[in-house]
Amino acid sequence: MAKLTSVKSKLITGRDLKVRLKTAKGRKISSTRWLERQLNDPFVKQAKIEGYRSRSAFKILELNKKFGFLVPGARVLDLGCAPGGWSQIASKKTNSAFTKKNKKRGFVLGVDFNYVAPIEGVQLATLDFLKDGASQRVKELIGQKVNVVMSDMAPPSSGHKKTDHLRIINLCEEAAYFAFEVLESGGTFVAKVLAGGAESGLQKILKKNFTIVSNVKPMSSRSDSSEKFVVAKGFRL
Ligand SMILES: C[S@@+](CC[C@H](N)C(=O)[O-])C[C@H]1O[C@@H](n2cnc3c(N)ncnc32)[C@H](O)[C@@H]1O
Repeated sequence: MAKLTSVKSKLITGRDLKVRLKTAKGRKISSTRWLERQLNDPFVKQAKIEGYRSRSAFKILELNKKFGFLVPGARVLDLGCAPGGWSQIASKKTNSAFTKKNKKRGFVLGVDFNYVAPIEGVQLATLDFLKDGASQRVKELIGQKVNVVMSDMAPPSSGHKKTDHLRIINLCEEAAYFAFEVLESGGTFVAKVLAGGAESGLQKILKKNFTIVSNVKPMSSRSDSSEKFVVAKGFRL
């Protein structure tokens, strides 16, 4: 596994030559820029090398390195898991595929409204977490309480910053209230939020229910994105 710092240093030193694209017929300038950014992103390249399905895998790796919540034997719920980068990491770290016979076996359930191709050691459910009956279904699938609830859920971009911010905070609050129902005592809640003002309510709720609440911007999170992550540890039952 490549060191996160070495991936980042490539980004800083620009050791890799930058790919520049000419605008193509029928392709919008914004799409050309997006493609250019993907081609020049060291985390995208590294994700390909490591076999991770998304560059987001590096974000959960960084958060886990700092807070250590994905451990062998842990039971994990991954909300908004497509295409599967976080679930891949959760499977590896919790030993849910039981590849290390000398360590405890974990459990990972990944949920998304998009189809996710099978991942070793991960149970997958295709459902909209906001729909009626979804939380009951997820409870049935996990069967018992979990140690970690993580949510990288993000609604499709509306192009309107304020609307996107409110939608993501809503998803995050839904995930947090669900976490209160399914977390073991001492459990961890991790979620993506967007900086933009409305997240203070969420912070208050979390501070009431967890011993430590931290806000982190991993170095693998694009600096021009308002995304950050909240990590709440020590769930109080
Ligand atoms: C940024 S992606 C997650 C990336 C993922 N963590 C990974 O590492 O591959 C956000 C995901 O949230 C999902 N999502 C958004 N709203 C959802 C909802 N209401 N129910 C289920 N999934 C949702 C989207 O379908 C999308 O796949």
